[in-house]
Amino acid sequence: MDGNGPQKPSPCRKLVPFLLFQVILGTVFFAYIRNGMLSEPGAFGPFALLGNSSAPEKTHPTLTILLWTWPFGARFVIKNCSQLMGTPDCFITADRRWIHAADAVVVHHPDVSQSRRQLPQGPRPPFQRWVWFNLESPSHTPNLGFMDNYFNLTMSYRRDSDIFTPYGWLETLAEPRNVTIPEKSKLVAWVVSNWKHSSPRVKYYKKLRSYIPVDVYGRRHVPLPRDKHLSTLSQYKFYLAFENSVHEDYITEKLWRNSLLSSTVPVVCGPPRKNYERYLPPDSFIHIEDFPTAQGLANFLLELDRDPVRYRNYFQWRRWLKPVGDLGWAIQLCKACKVLQEKPVHYQTVGELSKWFT
Ligand SMILES: *[C@@H]1O[C@H](CO)[C@@H](O)[C@H](O)[C@H]1NC(C)=O
Ligand SMILES: *[C@@H]1O[C@H](CO)[C@@H](O)[C@H](O)[C@H]1NC(C)=O
Ligand SMILES: *[C@@H]1O[C@H](CO)[C@@H](O)[C@H](O)[C@H]1NC(C)=O
Ligand SMILES: *[C@@H]1O[C@H](CO)[C@@H](O)[C@H](O)[C@H]1NC(C)=O
Repeated sequence: MDGNGPQKPSPCRKLVPFLLFQVILGTVFFAYIRNGMLSEPGAFGPFALLGNSSAPEKTHPTLTILLWTWPFGARFVIKNCSQLMGTPDCFITADRRWIHAADAVVVHHPDVSQSRRQLPQGPRPPFQRWVWFNLESPSHTPNLGFMDNYFNLTMSYRRDSDIFTPYGWLETLAEPRNVTIPEKSKLVAWVVSNWKHSSPRVKYYKKLRSYIPVDVYGRRHVPLPRDKHLSTLSQYKFYLAFENSVHEDYITEKLWRNSLLSSTVPVVCGPPRKNYERYLPPDSFIHIEDFPTAQGLANFLLELDRDPVRYRNYFQWRRWLKPVGDLGWAIQLCKACKVLQEKPVHYQTVGELSKWFT
């Protein structure tokens, strides 16, 4: 690829300076585009334009993490992990000039799955760990094969990831508290953005709604701005936390944020009940598999609606536990920061990622 090949025959010799000039020009232009898109304004001086010759010196005593792309192209404020999570800080940056000095490179799958060329390339320092990061389900994760034998650590919602980044969790309270249930004037809500007529969850919903009224929000339905989610949904007794696809541990903000943070009782559709029970007390949710038919589920919800004491039982766990669910990217990166600090650098590669992430 570069000029290190065998001696070229003489007719080509004259081309060499010209080609070299082209290569330099190309590199400068590419570096300009790349840095311009990724760095903070003013973060790259004229030297940044000369390829990697200006790679920053590692002066931070803390671990340096390079975020290869802003997830889904959206910038966010990188926060201080000691403030966010009470863990020692890392230096976290999206400036690709750190590629040779960073201790870890976090690569967000959806942003690099179009082509292998979107992945970081080239030789890596022996201490550097590349982290495969993904919060989408396998059904919505294309081109996993590109990632085989490329990464050192995994970072996902799967509990067997090296860096476990679930969509939410329950925190234990230091003291029990009295549970107050918000005023409930409505019955069942569902927020759905990706509406597919043929999907199992839509089919199930269609059966359910012939036995019990369900208010549907989202694109193609009643619009519900994100900042109105909690205040609107908390008026409902039940929330349909139906995942878009069924995979082990794939339990998303539909449960943690839409349902639990708005104090509704989740009716879940996703992995089996046993999988949910790894993360939640058994009496905190209703699983559609608890009933042989949609009609059975509907009857049960109507029964609970008429029986405030039994309905209240679905809130008892909140005496001791508090759901955490509205997580931003900054928190996920701090989780990576924590694990990378704790895990010594050993040789480790993720072989067949595409076989594991199913
Ligand atoms: C630039 O990249 C080359 C090849 O990857 C590497 O050998 C060299 O150390 C890098 N230079 C700096 C200053 O990082
Ligand atoms: C993080 O916040 C703490 C507490 O405010 C402060 O002492 C520390 O310098 C901050 N670290 C970084 C890297 O900003
Ligand atoms: C909880 O409610 C009980 C009974 O109403 C009351 O005696 C107690 O002080 C309350 N506890 C807290 C922490 O508010
Ligand atoms: C990371 O994985 C790559 C690809 O398998 C490997 O070449 C490299 O040595 C690994 N680095 C570490 C620190 O494990």
